[in-house]
Amino acid sequence: MYNISNRRYTGSKYKLLDWIEELILENCEGESFFDVFAGTGVVSARMSKHYNSVIMNDFLFSNEIIYKAFFGNDKYDVHVIEKYRKQFQNIPSNKIKDNYFSVNFGDKYFSKNDARLIGKIREEIQKLKRVISDREYCILLASLVYSMDKISNTVGHYDAYRKIGNIEDRFVYELINPENASDKFTIYRMDANKLVKKVKADIAFIDPPYNSRQYSRFYHVLENIVQWKKPRLEGTALKPEAENMSEYCRSRAPEVFADLIKNIQVKYIVVTYNNTYNSKSSSSKNKITLEEITKILSSKGQTTIYEKKHPCFNAGKTEFNDHKEFVFITKVGAKNGK
Ligand SMILES: C[S@@+](CC[C@H](N)C(=O)[O-])C[C@H]1O[C@@H](n2cnc3c(N)ncnc32)[C@H](O)[C@@H]1O
Repeated sequence: MYNISNRRYTGSKYKLLDWIEELILENCEGESFFDVFAGTGVVSARMSKHYNSVIMNDFLFSNEIIYKAFFGNDKYDVHVIEKYRKQFQNIPSNKIKDNYFSVNFGDKYFSKNDARLIGKIREEIQKLKRVISDREYCILLASLVYSMDKISNTVGHYDAYRKIGNIEDRFVYELINPENASDKFTIYRMDANKLVKKVKADIAFIDPPYNSRQYSRFYHVLENIVQWKKPRLEGTALKPEAENMSEYCRSRAPEVFADLIKNIQVKYIVVTYNNTYNSKSSSSKNKITLEEITKILSSKGQTTIYEKKHPCFNAGKTEFNDHKEFVFITKVGAKNGK
């Protein structure tokens, strides 16, 4: 069974969780935790033990489905989920006809047989939507996302597939391991800057993208399977028309970040950052500098910076050895130096 952290995701804070958790518990007080750019959801999952209310947000459809599957408020029937797991696992992959998924992604991101199977299971889940609950639908779909992501022929994102000769059949439909229903979680799929005007909480955790790599482009295959609108795809990477392009990945990032901080309605702001802005690769160069973040946060309250050396995510191009992670904690309304 898949846990929430069993995903490859750029910028996931999974490896930094102990440090982040400790800093938040030592320096912030409150009952509610707001994960504004939740990504994989691993930070919310870890921090949820400490708070009565957890608010999760990300503008990607695939992330929303995953949060609803793991943390939805509705009950689900284990027998129903198990029944479909067996049914999907028993589909003979060499006897399925081509479908949208295999025509586009077969022999590229997945083997032809695996792509047929993934497309077929996605169609089946869509048909079930009328007869199963929304939570069950999310669990079956998130399980498909985890199962396909695990075996995709990529380095972990879908900006390109690996050009290897023969791709092996490796797909197995396995389930995620969802939490029991609880009212603790509130899930949004909104632009962060709009959402902060609407939500109030004690502690906000802010982990936006900091370079030009757009998440909706990196994870387009997952967005495609979750939305299942079967768009026309273009280019060698088979991407659909752009959507959910983040301003945090563009030159306006400092302004957008300042607007977010200005409008956010919380007592503590926790921001993560790393110093790849010196990086030689232009796509991984930061759009906001450490100085800009410090200045913007200090205008909102007393800000302390914590730092840690961290082995860098390295896809080959980035030569960067002095990688440091930073956590900023701002006590809103308090004056600096007090
Ligand atoms: C660095 S990742 C967060 C990683 C997360 N903390 C984790 O540990 O998995 C940044 C996330 O922000 C989301 N994002 C980018 N711009 C956004 C926006 N304007 N509103 C909401 N989400 C956004 C991306 O989809 C991505 O998942």
